Amino acid sequence: MSELATERLDPDAGGVARAVAVLRACGRVAFPTETVYGLGADAREGTAVAGIYSAKGRPSFNPLIAHVADIAMAQRYVLWSDLADRVAQAFWPGPLTLVLPLRADAGISPLVTAGLSTLAVRVPAHPLAQELLRAFDGPLAAPSANPSGRISPTVPEHVLAGLDGAIESVLMGGPCEVGVESTILGLAPEPVLLRPGGLPAEALEALLGVLLEEGGSAEAPLAPGQLLSHYAPEAGLRMNATSAGEGEVLLGFGPVKGDMTLSASGDLHEAAAALFGALHALDGQGARVIAVAPIPETGLGRAINDRLRRAAAPR
Ligand code: TXA
Ligand code: MG
Repeated sequence: MSELATERLDPDAGGVARAVAVLRACGRVAFPTETVYGLGADAREGTAVAGIYSAKGRPSFNPLIAHVADIAMAQRYVLWSDLADRVAQAFWPGPLTLVLPLRADAGISPLVTAGLSTLAVRVPAHPLAQELLRAFDGPLAAPSANPSGRISPTVPEHVLAGLDGAIESVLMGGPCEVGVESTILGLAPEPVLLRPGGLPAEALEALLGVLLEEGGSAEAPLAPGQLLSHYAPEAGLRMNATSAGEGEVLLGFGPVKGDMTLSASGDLHEAAAALFGALHALDGQGARVIAVAPIPETGLGRAINDRLRRAAAPR
């Protein structure tokens, strides 16, 4: 692939206008959401979506999330339901993706759905993402803005570290507040938790009045982000560590201090926001193995442990 001069766009009205022009020309714009940076392109244009896959080096069986500005815009692309409405009214905009039946007249490129009859839709809360989606007035396919299989970016510098020269532009917003990807809820039509993420599953369970089954498995992934070896740093990773072994650096949490900590006070929100940045930083120091302190399996801890298990998986 020939090198592009990746444009750094300011996080203001001028930057958004330029981003929209890039998108209209079927180009790619990395932009901040409250979870992680997304690599956006027009979800209706096959050539634009193909550009996402080629920049990421992503296996093409992995379907993408379509980002929209609000519920009305989501309804252009998916078959809405009372259940979808209850969940969306409660949690959108926010770190939640809904998988719903694709409308026959949606006009979404089959490269986005990877040929499935469902579409993943999400309304991000980040003000710059909102501004971009409203100005573009169309669906943006946007996986995390990192080379496939690598750690998701939570600051624009991570995006550039992986994709500088491979994409047209980056909207240079600040750090992402949530720090792990959105929770994915399947509603086609039975509620299934397809990926733990930035919205604690307990919040969905409280609203729906059911305990959510985690759908799919590494062998038969329902959300192909469930592929076991995903989110991988260069270093190896060991979980539930209380001290560093030979050749390891220790990433702490709560009482386990570590060489660096996800949250000294044991706060799971702080830990989620710090997770990918810490893995990037320790990886950059050339650590052979990153040992990570035990993280409780509740709330955002479920999303953190899910990402850690994938990073720890043999590759
Ligand atoms: O927080 C996020 O969700 C970020 C930001 C940028 O919005 N995006 C993100 O996208 O994580 P991506 O492409 O890295 O993850 C999309 C996940 C994958 O696990 C994919 O398999 C799943 O969504 N997915 C997409 N469409 C699906 C569908 N129709 N059925 C089941 N899973 C689907
Ligand atoms: Mg990703």
